[in-house]
Amino acid sequence: MVTRADIGVIGGSGFYSLLDDAEEIQVATPYGPPSDTITLGRIGGRSVAFLPRHGRGHVHPPHRIPYRANMWALRSLGVRQVLAPCAVGSLRAEYGPGTLVVPDQIVDRTISRERTYYDAGAAVHVSFADPYCPNGRGVAVSAARESGWPAVDGGALVVIEGPRFSTRAESQSYAGSGWSIIGMTTMPEAVLARELALCYTSISLVTDHDAGVMAGEGVTHEEVLAVFAANVERMRGLIERAVAALPEERDCPCGSVLDGIPLPIALP
Ligand code: ADE
Repeated sequence: MVTRADIGVIGGSGFYSLLDDAEEIQVATPYGPPSDTITLGRIGGRSVAFLPRHGRGHVHPPHRIPYRANMWALRSLGVRQVLAPCAVGSLRAEYGPGTLVVPDQIVDRTISRERTYYDAGAAVHVSFADPYCPNGRGVAVSAARESGWPAVDGGALVVIEGPRFSTRAESQSYAGSGWSIIGMTTMPEAVLARELALCYTSISLVTDHDAGVMAGEGVTHEEVLAVFAANVERMRGLIERAVAALPEERDCPCGSVLDGIPLPIALP
């Protein structure tokens, strides 16, 4: 039985079947319950904790996901590297539905979310210039390409508050700023991962062209779900490869980001 895990996967419910020796556990955190029970298991030789970001049945909208509890729960199980598949809209005509992007930047346009563990006791400012793990990104890009999915390596992901999609003017302004893709969940997930010294890698699947990019009706939720469902098998294969290729020992900067920083609550 697996009781701890090195690697966390936060994604849709299509990923449960990835895990061998699977066991579901409930994890309590100082921030309340996570989105759902966490499934511990193995992929190949690696121990993995899987957490459905929106909960089973997609019950948590993006602005209500218990992000702090989720990341804390993963870390408390031993997780140090997180792979985060998600659905995104495209801000570029050439990135159509089904395109895979491994972004290297984030623009945070969320407004109402609990976005830090360091909100009392000490003024702590973690570095976030490069928000994703460089090793995790490399692994994800290689795993995609090896599986025949030509990943786009890099680009800025703008994270909006949602749950509504963008207006055409908003979307055109994001595209005009040179940003590549748009989603609703990477923040504060990525910064909370950083504050817990976790490696975090976004594996972003384009499900639609955002409203300002092409003429047409704009984005619908049904479209997003349908394209994600059509690609879930490919995404599973990619995650399997990426998990196997993640390093056993980390030599990236993510693990030392808290060196010398006073902690508000003892880390699990
Ligand atoms: N997730 C999937 N498509 C999206 C879009 N167009 N905007 C924001 N989040 C999304």
